[in-house]
Amino acid sequence: MLEKLLITGASGGLGQICRQSLKPLARTMRLTARSGLGEAGEGEEIVYGSLDDAAALAEIVEGCDGIVHLGGQATEASWETIRAANIDGIVNLYEAVRLSTTKPRIIFASSNHTIGFYPQNQRLDTRSPVRPDGYYGVSKVFGEALASMYYDKFGIETASVRIGSCTAEPENYRMLSTWLSHRDFAQLIARIFAVPVLGCQVIYGASANSAGWWDNSAVSFLGWQPQDNAEAYRAKIEQSVPRPDPDAPVAKYQGGVFCADPIFKE
Ligand SMILES: NC(=O)c1ccc[n+]([C@@H]2O[C@H](COP(=O)([O-])OP(=O)(O)OC[C@H]3O[C@@H](n4cnc5c(N)ncnc54)[C@H](O)[C@@H]3O)[C@@H](O)[C@H]2O)c1
Repeated sequence: MLEKLLITGASGGLGQICRQSLKPLARTMRLTARSGLGEAGEGEEIVYGSLDDAAALAEIVEGCDGIVHLGGQATEASWETIRAANIDGIVNLYEAVRLSTTKPRIIFASSNHTIGFYPQNQRLDTRSPVRPDGYYGVSKVFGEALASMYYDKFGIETASVRIGSCTAEPENYRMLSTWLSHRDFAQLIARIFAVPVLGCQVIYGASANSAGWWDNSAVSFLGWQPQDNAEAYRAKIEQSVPRPDPDAPVAKYQGGVFCADPIFKE
């Protein structure tokens, strides 16, 4: 059991899920966001701050022995927005960890958009070269590279989880391949904190989808066995969602519509 687990981006979609599902992992959960966390519940601490504020982050990180880093810009945006949250923000986080007395293990919410330009008929493993599909995907590649450097230089351990689509249930054809159930995500996080030695790993965050594209055998030592399979929702999707044109980016590339995004300007 962790003493103090920090969740960044705790007011976001996955942050709210993790606030509930990760309670059994730690004696205390420290939740951080820029706003909107409500009252602290039993075993919770709430600390507000922005990822771009290095001094605030240093205080937020101190005393924690695990971090689930969910905070950041979670879709494509202008470079200025991406840079503040996902480049400067993650540098601030790793510096805070390096300078902390507790040296927490980190789970970094990376993304399938690090490899978005691979075609959907290609199977990938965790050693496949990256093919990001926008500034957002590039920023997640940066986060993974930063994690690697902080491991090699300072021994700080990270699991970069390339989350597919973490939703209550799969909502479209692409998600039959990319879906990560909330339950499987929580169990993956528990395994990452449970193993005695983690090192620095990349993991595809997807359930046991029959139509999946990603091979996690390099991280089988984690003992993570996803329980859910998007296939159970195929009939529902076929009834309710129009099948996309096979030449459209959403049907062609692993990153889906992100591959068709323009370069954003603010
Ligand atoms: N939900 C998914 O399926 C999915 C898929 C791939 C990757 N991810 C990653 O998982 C993480 C969580 O995703 P989510 O769906 O909960 O996104 P979200 O947008 O709901 O939550 C992100 C949180 O980060 C906060 N944030 C943004 N910039 C910040 C800054 N500068 N300082 C402090 N906080 C800041 C936002 O306010 C928000 O609360 C993100 O990093 C996202 O890139 C999610």
